[in-house]
Amino acid sequence: MKQLSIAVIAGDGVGPEVISAGKRVLVKAGERFGLAFSFEDFPWGSEFYFQHGRMMPPMALDLLQPFDAIYLGAVGHPDIPDHVTLNGLLLPIRRGFDLYANVRPAVLYAGVDSPLAGRRPGDIDMVIVRENTEGEYVQVGGFVYHQQPEELAVQTAVFTRRGIERVVRLAFELALRRGKKKRVASVTKSNAQGFGMVLWDRTFQTVAREFPGVETESLLVDAAAMNFVRRPESFDVVVASNLFGDILSDLSAIITGSIGLAPSANLDPSRRFPSLFEPVHGSAPDIAGKGIANPMGTILAAAMMLEHLDHSEAAGAIEQAVAGVLAETQVRTPDLGGSNTTFEVTEAVLARL
Ligand code: NAD
Ligand code: IPM
Ligand code: MN
Repeated sequence: MKQLSIAVIAGDGVGPEVISAGKRVLVKAGERFGLAFSFEDFPWGSEFYFQHGRMMPPMALDLLQPFDAIYLGAVGHPDIPDHVTLNGLLLPIRRGFDLYANVRPAVLYAGVDSPLAGRRPGDIDMVIVRENTEGEYVQVGGFVYHQQPEELAVQTAVFTRRGIERVVRLAFELALRRGKKKRVASVTKSNAQGFGMVLWDRTFQTVAREFPGVETESLLVDAAAMNFVRRPESFDVVVASNLFGDILSDLSAIITGSIGLAPSANLDPSRRFPSLFEPVHGSAPDIAGKGIANPMGTILAAAMMLEHLDHSEAAGAIEQAVAGVLAETQVRTPDLGGSNTTFEVTEAVLARL
């Protein structure tokens, strides 16, 4: 029996609902593939904030460090400003553990309708590789004349050659590993942002030379958004800055049916730190507590976790179970046009496992 220790931060809103589904699926997959999970639940998030005035304890990263992986639900509460919750919990983990690649697959599964006319299962099969530690998310800046009428705010984006190079290289390696279209599209806005994004474009071209077998394309982010709708089938791996990757991954999620289906892996490929796995979506306060959140994105994130921990067979079985429920049953949550609950969808996935 292989032991895997997982730190669980269920977090806010629908987070605990989808995480409990994901844990059940992991346990089931473990029974089948000889893996024993020991979960430790960390009660961090907005409730913790109401009690302690912070989202997680000061030593949080030290507590997380020994785990094989981190499994996170969602963060965000209507009564606390988002820059407080997210800069108090999720973002410091991504930065502190140098989880520099945020990998977000978007697949149009059989049995799922795309809002795009005429798209069939399999037509859309792409992965967004989002730079996850720098760019527009560095939190460098400040206020001048704070809260006075003449107030001024500076928010600086920081791009480093090293930061761009490592995430772009990972995108190329992923295109080869996927062995599908062997294509990498890089997304910037270098026509308007003449420094950081220009460095990105140049670095992309340099790294591309190491991968002559991979076709490349460079797009401006506005055109990329249009082309996700116009020709989504042409994309394989898409590499983008932190902010652009964030925005495009909501778009790639909805064109493949629902944000509730979209998983993500925040990776430290060097494996110095535990990587973090989560759905792409947030705490969804509009449906929290109703028991109808789609757990599939979180379940697919568990599969990405097992893949990262070198248990590909178990990962594949989870993905197949989700795909099977979508292809061969009518069981689905309301975001996918169904009327089932989180629990019923989870039961259907467990039955297939
Ligand atoms: P959201 O992703 O929470 O919700 C957007 C829409 O998608 C809502 O209509 C919601 O009901 C729906 N949705 C989301 N997840 C779903 C699921 N599993 N099943 C069915 N429908 C689902 O985005 P938002 O409304 O912009 O943000 C809400 C809060 O979450 C904010 O505080 C935001 O900062 C935070 N947020 C956190 C994360 C994260 O923790 N990783 C990600 C995004 C947003
Ligand atoms: C995501 C989220 C976060 C991000 C927010 C909540 C800070 O939208 O994981 O996509 O932008 O990274
Ligand atoms: Mn997002």
